[in-house]
Amino acid sequence: MDRLTRTLFGSDFEWGVSTAAFQIEGACDADGKGESIWDAFTAKKGKVIGGHKADIACNFYYNFKEDIDLLKKLHIPNFRFSISWTRVLPDGTGKVNQEGINYYNRVIDYCLEQGIEPWLTVYHWDLPQELEQKGGWTNRQIVDWFSNYTEICARSFGDRVKHWMVMNEPSVFSGAGYFFGIHAPGRTGIKNFLPVIHHVVLSMVAGARKLREILPDANIGTTFSCSHIEPASQSKRDIAAAHRADALVNRLFIEPVLGLGYPVNEIPVLSDMQKYILPGDEENMHFDFDFIGLQNYTREIVKYSFLTPYIHARLVKAAQRKVPLTAMGWEVYPRAIYHILKKFDAYPQIKKIIITENGAAFPDDLIDGNVADVQRLDYIRENLQQILAARQEGVNVQGYFVWTLTDNFEWAEGYHPRFGLVHVDFETQQRTIKSSGYWYSDFLKG
Ligand code: NOJ
Repeated sequence: MDRLTRTLFGSDFEWGVSTAAFQIEGACDADGKGESIWDAFTAKKGKVIGGHKADIACNFYYNFKEDIDLLKKLHIPNFRFSISWTRVLPDGTGKVNQEGINYYNRVIDYCLEQGIEPWLTVYHWDLPQELEQKGGWTNRQIVDWFSNYTEICARSFGDRVKHWMVMNEPSVFSGAGYFFGIHAPGRTGIKNFLPVIHHVVLSMVAGARKLREILPDANIGTTFSCSHIEPASQSKRDIAAAHRADALVNRLFIEPVLGLGYPVNEIPVLSDMQKYILPGDEENMHFDFDFIGLQNYTREIVKYSFLTPYIHARLVKAAQRKVPLTAMGWEVYPRAIYHILKKFDAYPQIKKIIITENGAAFPDDLIDGNVADVQRLDYIRENLQQILAARQEGVNVQGYFVWTLTDNFEWAEGYHPRFGLVHVDFETQQRTIKSSGYWYSDFLKG
């Protein structure tokens, strides 16, 4: 294979790193910020490994200049970050907190001064706790709350921000947060999950339409988590189970948005959603996004399971399969991203794909001021090789963002999994660029 170079991807290909407010900012109640569901969730016992909290996290709120300087130093031209809803609207609706707006203005302006393009995610999981008390995503009023919040973001930042993502990984925040209860707000069961799915879809579209109305020239996308799914065997039952799991993991949120409706045939329980779908909703469930952000980390192997409700399918854990693992227990399988790109490129409604997240957590060692994270470096390089292969076969993939710049707060896993190109000592907030960071930088320099 040819040496992997940036030029092979073409000059318009967008390169960057991705982050999220709650995972890096800290300053959990600074300058009028309201409480989010993640502030509330992390305050409860037993929800996050090690009892870790994100009150300080990477201290990005106070030290953002230092981290943006690192981006510049590493030749990373695009920076994806999210807005914390409760900095802007402490109660989710009502009075705007000007200090929150001022903070994001400072971040955006500093990026632009350094020649770095900001890519904004409107919602990366940190719902206002006040809204959760009113039912959160289960309450249909959230469509209005969310559009109002998106409108404030568009009006406040849209004069300088050209790239927008409405939501981050709807299947994860709704599934982990409202079905399994392992993420905030920690609710469980199909009764919560079904209305949430529909309200998230309506909100995603309402938010996107708001952005389009206010910022007609903006580049508007949204992001989906996706995993390449394979059956555990060639038995009919496993193949059918894999098909159902694929509908749940990869199709549930994107297909309605593309105008294809919910995958009810594969997941019959979705027909119970009918009671939440009101007359006229169908017109408000799809949007012509400029790009679709795909976030892929691994593949999943799926087996028929009589005992698993609703989909009769279960994942065969990577640890049982004797394959190389990341610190998240996910299989290292770079070919997955190639399959994912082929799969999503086959939807004629998708205009352009950007890989808005890809990366890996490994147990890094800081030795004499160096982190020789060879596994992460290989992971990124091999994933890029697969993306290039798909692109050379005609897949319209136009960008790649590494998850993530600095080690940060990995939700229910706390600080243990380190995903960064830059190591963080959480006691001292000292940053150390890892080998993978230097490699990415050299690659971007060309
Ligand atoms: C998906 C999420 O968007 C991000 O918040 C998370 O940290 C990474 N993937 C890694 O799990």
